[in-house]
Amino acid sequence: MKFFVDTADINDIKDLAATGLLDGVTTNPSLVAKSGAASFVDLIKDICKVVSGPVSAEVGATDYETMLEEGLFLSKLAKNVAVKVPLTPAGLKVCKHLSGQGTMVNVTLCFSAAQAILAAKAGATFVSPFVGRLDDVGENGMQLISDICQIYAQYPEFKTEVLVASVRNPQHVVQAALMGAGVATIPPNIIRQLFTHPLTDKGLAQFVADWAKCGQKILPAKAA
Ligand code: G3P
Repeated sequence: MKFFVDTADINDIKDLAATGLLDGVTTNPSLVAKSGAASFVDLIKDICKVVSGPVSAEVGATDYETMLEEGLFLSKLAKNVAVKVPLTPAGLKVCKHLSGQGTMVNVTLCFSAAQAILAAKAGATFVSPFVGRLDDVGENGMQLISDICQIYAQYPEFKTEVLVASVRNPQHVVQAALMGAGVATIPPNIIRQLFTHPLTDKGLAQFVADWAKCGQKILPAKAA
């Protein structure tokens, strides 16, 4: 399972890339606005230098011609750019064009299995179902992931990876893994939560205390 970080904050991206566990990055217009970056294009170039895996950069337009022009431009910024397009008829048309020429495409704002089927048929590299936003309106986000994984598994010609988005807690990540989703894009604070468990902290404190008590050493003394 691949972990992407869902942020446009370059400092968070650098910090999490240093763990060696980051496989990619997703951004969206809201995250870019939040980052306060002066230039979106420069930001994407910088992120692509930090992370070698797919970096999703979303188009700003909604009409086919401008989305395609923006997508072509973004795809040339770095070899690991995945152009992100909305799940609309025009977005899927852009997806078909860009994926046909070998550009990675992330189809975003997916809220139904029917939409996910269309994204796969359009040749998307990734489809991004938003689990948290479905939960927010009283639906079951993870059920959608389960449905899409089941559908895709029945059609070997579908090469699209399920990229679980709008992740709100570690359980979303665990459930996505149980369902066999290929990727989860996770906000930085939730990635950090994945590392922690109170019993890990408690157990480590005990080990450190007992180690100090018994006076054992592992490394030989360094010559002065
Ligand atoms: O990047 C798209 C998605 O992950 C957004 O999440 O929390 O704004 O619903 P959220």
